[in-house]
Amino acid sequence: MLGSIFSILLLIAAADAAGIGVTYGRRATSLPPPVDVARFLARGTIVDRVRLLNADPLALRAFAGTGLAVDMTVPNALVPRLAESVAFTRQWVRTRVAPLAAAGTNVSRILVGREVISQANRPLLLALVPAMQNLHAALVGASLDGQIQVSTAHSLGVLDALTTSPSAGRFREGYDAAVIKPLLAFLRATGAPFMVNAYPFYGLTDDTPLDFALFRVGATGVMDTGSGLLYTNALDAQLDAVHSAMDRMGFGDVDVVVAETGWPWAGEDWETGVGADHAGDYNRNAIRHLGSGVGTPLRPNRTFEVSIFSLFDEDLKPGPLSQRHFGLFHADMTPVYDAGILTAPEYVGPVSSKVTPAAAAAVPAPAPDARAADSGGRRWCVPAPAADAAVLQENIDFVCGQGGIDCSAIRLGGSCYEPDTLQAHAAYAMNLYFRSNGDHEFDCEFGHTGVVTTADPSFGGCNFT
Ligand SMILES: *[C@@H]1O[C@H](CO)[C@@H](O)[C@H](O)[C@H]1NC(C)=O
Ligand SMILES: *[C@@H]1O[C@H](CO)[C@@H](O)[C@H](O)[C@H]1NC(C)=O
Repeated sequence: MLGSIFSILLLIAAADAAGIGVTYGRRATSLPPPVDVARFLARGTIVDRVRLLNADPLALRAFAGTGLAVDMTVPNALVPRLAESVAFTRQWVRTRVAPLAAAGTNVSRILVGREVISQANRPLLLALVPAMQNLHAALVGASLDGQIQVSTAHSLGVLDALTTSPSAGRFREGYDAAVIKPLLAFLRATGAPFMVNAYPFYGLTDDTPLDFALFRVGATGVMDTGSGLLYTNALDAQLDAVHSAMDRMGFGDVDVVVAETGWPWAGEDWETGVGADHAGDYNRNAIRHLGSGVGTPLRPNRTFEVSIFSLFDEDLKPGPLSQRHFGLFHADMTPVYDAGILTAPEYVGPVSSKVTPAAAAAVPAPAPDARAADSGGRRWCVPAPAADAAVLQENIDFVCGQGGIDCSAIRLGGSCYEPDTLQAHAAYAMNLYFRSNGDHEFDCEFGHTGVVTTADPSFGGCNFT
């Protein structure tokens, strides 16, 4: 007990230094009303920032007067409209942003789109920076630019997937000059941070094992042979890959913020590392480390702002079970596990008894070695069961439009042309992309329409590489 109170006090000190946020996603059937959530976060936790994944005025208004800094998100579908029209953007700021600020919601950032670079959508991608520029100009016009920054959050899919060590980090070719460079120039000019969603959970491999991801290797760690720097955890390695990429483009002075990180407390039996103990360890250690002032090997002696994903489980999300079990809190706001962010000690403690029997039964026990046993470690990327047809078509167009990727097998006469269905062709194309970029989970995101599987989808003469 003393130990946990002590660690809470340490974390409060960390919060002052860095800033701890949570992502408030709401794709769930039963969640508490936003006003209750706002009150709980403001009074019961050390969280000082909340990130909404949309611009829902009711949810945003709930945070008025709490003092919490609020990041709101422009939905991807709106990004091209902001890019096209200065008048539309001004009107959006006038009707959707200014009233919030006037009502006392501490809007601190507007994030333009979500993981735009991973959406495999070229018009959206090309609209990103112009939309951010128009939005910033409209905020200047409304005298809100001093208070509200404009940024956007990226998955690690912005990096070249061939990156093996942090010092080799570089932005993905083709995106670097077309999108990332003007983006970084915009962020530098406006003083806004480069925001990344960094998930060591999705980087688990034989080379980056669980203990490294969970900050458990102590001072042993892994030497980056490129820089001679020692890495003691996977999060530092991911952040420094981003720092290296920025340094390489001459934008090392732009600040980096961890817009999302987290760990699922349950998942499929083939998903390595899922579980409440691991989730608790990861989140507590990540918060403590980023707030400690130690910094990363490439950016020593500094703190990093971080937002934990996610406030609640979201049972309406597609994909493997883990996608629906990133929550820190149950819908009644009792903690799923001790993430170290509560101010009131009476809340602290494991609450596995609060999981309903139905939910517990639906969650298979994690089996860390299932992956290797099933498929010799091989994995494939296929469409998620409920994936939208239009998005699957975009995925095919995107993958097969890349130089160096050969989609001839799904063209007429190719070995995977039959069955001639969108689902089957998308599976082939998405897997090809995943495989040719080095089997990274983030190369199977496709705007949350892809899932990694251990079941080989090959059939007949159609061979999935
Ligand atoms: C609003 O959030 C910022 C962080 O972006 C913080 O510095 C400031 O104190 C907050 N304002 C209020 C009124 O609480
Ligand atoms: C970081 O802090 C340590 C201890 O205060 C100091 O020795 C070191 O020179 C600092 N490094 C940088 C890059 O500022």
